[in-house]
Amino acid sequence: MKLLILYLLVLSVTLPVTAAELKVDLGQGAMTYRTEALLKRPDIRTINVPADVAFGHAMQYRAVPLAALLKGIGPGDHLQFVASDGFAAEIPAEIILNHRGSEAWLAIEDPAHPWPALSKNHGHAGPFYVVWTQPQAAHVGPEQWPYQLAMIRRLDSVATRFPAIVPDPSLPADSEVQRGFVVFQRTCFACHTLNGQGDAKLGPDLNIPHGPTEYLRADLLRAYIRNPQSLRQWPQAKMPGFDAQALSDRDLDAVLGYLHYMASHKPAH
Ligand code: HEC
Repeated sequence: MKLLILYLLVLSVTLPVTAAELKVDLGQGAMTYRTEALLKRPDIRTINVPADVAFGHAMQYRAVPLAALLKGIGPGDHLQFVASDGFAAEIPAEIILNHRGSEAWLAIEDPAHPWPALSKNHGHAGPFYVVWTQPQAAHVGPEQWPYQLAMIRRLDSVATRFPAIVPDPSLPADSEVQRGFVVFQRTCFACHTLNGQGDAKLGPDLNIPHGPTEYLRADLLRAYIRNPQSLRQWPQAKMPGFDAQALSDRDLDAVLGYLHYMASHKPAH
């Protein structure tokens, strides 16, 4: 038994990059796209991504326009991008479809030309990775670049699926709490659940049993989100820091306002 585990471990470390499958389920029967077929598509391009989020430097990819794989979706639809590590990005179809100048691409790792390893404890970005050209045009955030991508699916909106994370609808849309809820979905919800709801499996729940605004001093919590290592340090920490470009001061205030509000809106039990 021990030998078998050792063997599997060695295998998983030395295994070369192989062809993989991406599942796309838009609600009319799931489709499976394989690496070889994707690499042979007529719409495949070589694209340059000057400020790549996962790698932190310029990258070049073989990629197909993401919209071409999502035929039939409308701007009101909602998509979830699930990675093999438990990351689940919620991305409104609107930013992929409405051509505000940002274009989403599915980057495909060719087993013959594997991508470099990611920095720190993030493993490998392949086999599929959503990258953007001109991300600033549609305010695409760093958590909207899912890598290690395994599945894309159309789902109901976050608010419909997870009512326990939704602030009181009578709060105006431009209130800090509602704005913070939007920032939370875009920036935190890919890794954290809240009130036990959500599909992410990477980080701790941000409200139960206790929310961070209840047990972390306000200035330290703020500093933590900018740079988690400024609070506590350990080698395998996984939460990325959000600098002012990834999360403006106003958005940081809003998300903290939302977390503070949710601390007094826990599910009854
Ligand atoms: C890419 C995944 C990821 C994203 C995105 C992310 N976090 Fe985290 N977060 C983690 C992980 C994982 C931990 C556990 C500590 C670690 O491994 O770094 C964590 C820990 C935390 C903690 C500390 C909890 C405790 O008591 O130790 C807080 C607070 C927190 N995150 C808040 C946030 C907020 C707010 C956002 C959005 C602005 C956010 N996180 C975005 C992955 C993430």
